[in-house]
Amino acid sequence: MAKRSKFQSPTGMHDILPENQKYYKRIYDVVSDIADFYGFGKIDTPIVEETELFSKGIGLATDIVKKQMYTLKTRGGDSLALRPEGTAPIARAYIENGMQSRPQPLKLWYFGPFFRYERPQAKRYRQFWQFGFEALGEKSPVIDAQIIQIFYNILRELKLKNLLVEVNSIGDSQCRPYYKKLLASYFRTREASLCFDCKRRLRENVLRILDCKEEKCQPIKAEAPQILDHLCDECRAHFKEVLEFLDEIEIPYNLNPYLVRGLDYYTKTVFEIFLEKTSNGEISQSALAGGGRYDKLIKLFRGKETPACGAAAGIERIIDLMKSQKIKLPSETEPQIFLAQLGSLAKRKSLKLLESFRKSKIKVAESFGRDSLNAQFNRADKLGVKYTLILGQKEALEEVVIIRDMKTGKQETVKLDKVVEKMKKRLKK
Ligand code: HAM
Repeated sequence: MAKRSKFQSPTGMHDILPENQKYYKRIYDVVSDIADFYGFGKIDTPIVEETELFSKGIGLATDIVKKQMYTLKTRGGDSLALRPEGTAPIARAYIENGMQSRPQPLKLWYFGPFFRYERPQAKRYRQFWQFGFEALGEKSPVIDAQIIQIFYNILRELKLKNLLVEVNSIGDSQCRPYYKKLLASYFRTREASLCFDCKRRLRENVLRILDCKEEKCQPIKAEAPQILDHLCDECRAHFKEVLEFLDEIEIPYNLNPYLVRGLDYYTKTVFEIFLEKTSNGEISQSALAGGGRYDKLIKLFRGKETPACGAAAGIERIIDLMKSQKIKLPSETEPQIFLAQLGSLAKRKSLKLLESFRKSKIKVAESFGRDSLNAQFNRADKLGVKYTLILGQKEALEEVVIIRDMKTGKQETVKLDKVVEKMKKRLKK
């Protein structure tokens, strides 16, 4: 058994090893291409923010703020939090950088690590990566549909299959308070039959009862009043238009009256994207992406009233799926040439030759640390290169190099200063 090392990465946080970097890179490339197409500019905000930004923005009664924030006191006595999400920081950056005065909507995207002190379990990490899109300063429902379309397109472009978009509207300050009252009085008369957590939710945030997964709460939920029947005219018209746009762009969706999201800043449209079924046929519980409209957040941070809409996706969850759906990444160029050397003069010349190949953008593998030719040939075999270049003591003195065709075994000796050109021609064939 391997000896346990003294130090381990913190619970729920992982190293991203070289063999996994290609997934992050692939997702980054697809996301940045799509962002560019739809006119979103990239933004990076600090990894920490004032704790109050999140408690105020996400909501004091939410799980994220109550249980999942990593907070720290600075030497100067400020309370900072590792960012658990990206929307509140973007709202802050929008106000702080005077972005209200730029042409609206202002469209921003981000890609980076986020932190939540979650109970360790599958698909929930304490450090995870998200990419997100935020469109600020646009009230038209067309942007809600476009955000959904962007996330759907990214996941499709990554070749993920069986995606399911769930949408709902949770109203606004005109209609939600009344609906919450209705809901609270409905659940209060059935409180004894609710699960432990829902009894707490009844006092703290009654809407959250709607996304409870406990068996015993399901029949009670099923009979509860539904928000779509209680939206005000403005919210109803807005939602109807969002759905019409989605129909027009042929995004398949389900209306889910229980979708309420775990952050308090949402108004009107909310959505999540799931996998329709997991590989063993079960309904998937963990969303790949989620978001919605947050028309009051900028005002809450003392900015001008600014309607906005956005979403974020969990990169590790996407990578898990890419692996389980056996999605192939576009092939990376593997080196076709191996450079073998023997003796100190040859090693020096090889170092220089490698630089000439790099400048010509030709990938060349080597193992300069090894001195045995046999060990180097074995490595060339393992890599499956087409050609091995051999630079021994004699060749180094004569300023030549041997090109060996690994398939036919044929060898040719060429001048050292001509070998890059020669290999360029051979690789083109
Ligand atoms: P969220 O639903 O909390 O929304 O997170 C978005 C996505 O991040 C989730 O659907 C999930 O894929 C991933 N995610 C969240 N927590 C974890 C975790 N512990 N481990 C792995 N993946 C996770 C937001 O963060 C909002 N800021 C989205 C938004 C943007 N709304 C408007 N604009």
